[in-house]
Amino acid sequence: MKQRENFSSKLGIIVATAGSALGLGNIYRFPCEAGTNGGGAFLIVYLIIALLIGTPLMVSEFVIGRRARSNPIGAFRLLSGKKNVWPVVGYLGVLCAFLILAFYTTVAGWTLGYLGKSAANHFAGQDLGQIQLQFMNFTNHPWLPIVCQLIFLALTAFVVARGVKDGIERWSKILMPLLLVIMVVLCINSLTLSGAKEGLRFFFNPDFGKINGRVLISALGQAFFSLSIGMGALITYGSYIGKKDNMVSSAAGVVLADTLVAVLAGVIIFPAAFTFGIQPQAGASLAFTTLPMVFQQMTGGYFFCLIFFLLLVIATLTSTISLLEVIVAATTEEMKLSRPLAAILGAVDTALIGVLATLSFRDGSPLHIGGRTVFDLLDHMTASYFMPLGGLLIVLFVGWKMKRADVLDELTNGGTLKTGLRKAILFIIRYLAPVAIAVIFISQLVGK
Ligand code: PHE
Repeated sequence: MKQRENFSSKLGIIVATAGSALGLGNIYRFPCEAGTNGGGAFLIVYLIIALLIGTPLMVSEFVIGRRARSNPIGAFRLLSGKKNVWPVVGYLGVLCAFLILAFYTTVAGWTLGYLGKSAANHFAGQDLGQIQLQFMNFTNHPWLPIVCQLIFLALTAFVVARGVKDGIERWSKILMPLLLVIMVVLCINSLTLSGAKEGLRFFFNPDFGKINGRVLISALGQAFFSLSIGMGALITYGSYIGKKDNMVSSAAGVVLADTLVAVLAGVIIFPAAFTFGIQPQAGASLAFTTLPMVFQQMTGGYFFCLIFFLLLVIATLTSTISLLEVIVAATTEEMKLSRPLAAILGAVDTALIGVLATLSFRDGSPLHIGGRTVFDLLDHMTASYFMPLGGLLIVLFVGWKMKRADVLDELTNGGTLKTGLRKAILFIIRYLAPVAIAVIFISQLVGK
């Protein structure tokens, strides 16, 4: 077997996995979902799922990846023995990576556009109506959002073509902590706004009566999306983890950091939304109207806005890299394409559907299927169906199909680690996670 690249250090896995996890899922999608699903009711379900199921599922992906040292398709083939249907889970993951990347780069393009707008000081002195109009005008512009999306995809392909280690580790090491620092500053600023109390009440006060099937599946999908689990990205990254790295503590660290950033995003956005009169249910435009309003009332707003969008672009890039890496690892290993060619082909294929997603966002666009825009449809299909289903199959595979001794060997690094949590994790992988995911998934199918 040919020598595979490894992450260089323990920090390498955490940095790369956190790079994949932190992104638009936390800062754009999380507030959007929390806002449309009842605020506090959503948050509580989200936290339970992310913390309780997120870590064991992330560990399960690492176990599969490191054990097989292969892309998701090859990994299921290798670990399940001959003539088995399990590789289908790998194919599902690669397809899912492709579909996510297509609509994710629509919003990634917006972040680039907004970075340009912040550099050009487009938000200063604007009122809410004007900021909302800027979002409308930008997303409806005949070519700008598409050009931004394509630039973003090209950047992603460039990094991925150069290889995992150089590409991914280097980007995230200093910049992710910096994003955290700036978010803490924004958080403190939001707490001083006049709508802070109302915003915090909306976000933190759960109205349990609002928890229904839709809230459950939205929270499950959001947790999976935000943690990059259920579709093979972390099987792929797991395949680059060194034999001595502690996967359980790394996964737990990433889950905590990702959850913290999502909650911080909520604390930044909801108080501000209530202060400026923006509906928490605004959906896609929520982050892109609230944040510019925040910056333009802040001392040093120009500077903070610029740095924030720059860091957001980078956080988004480390996520798109992990998505394209799934496709590239699969095609280089399964179809023997060279890495640069695989990266270019992957990006071009993604662009074909991605552009439709971007165009579907325009007012009056005919690109609707079953009452949803192509953009919404891709988002909904992946987060509400593919990822929960993938996650369910992954925990079933590790819990019931893989050899128990192999799983324990991975969890303890061949018996050298005393992972006290190992029993609890195995219990969740075998029983709790499959039942919880299945119940939520089925309740969505039945309860319309
Ligand atoms: N977790 C990323 C985010 O929150 C998105 C992502 C999903 C990345 C799935 C990789 C795989 O932005």
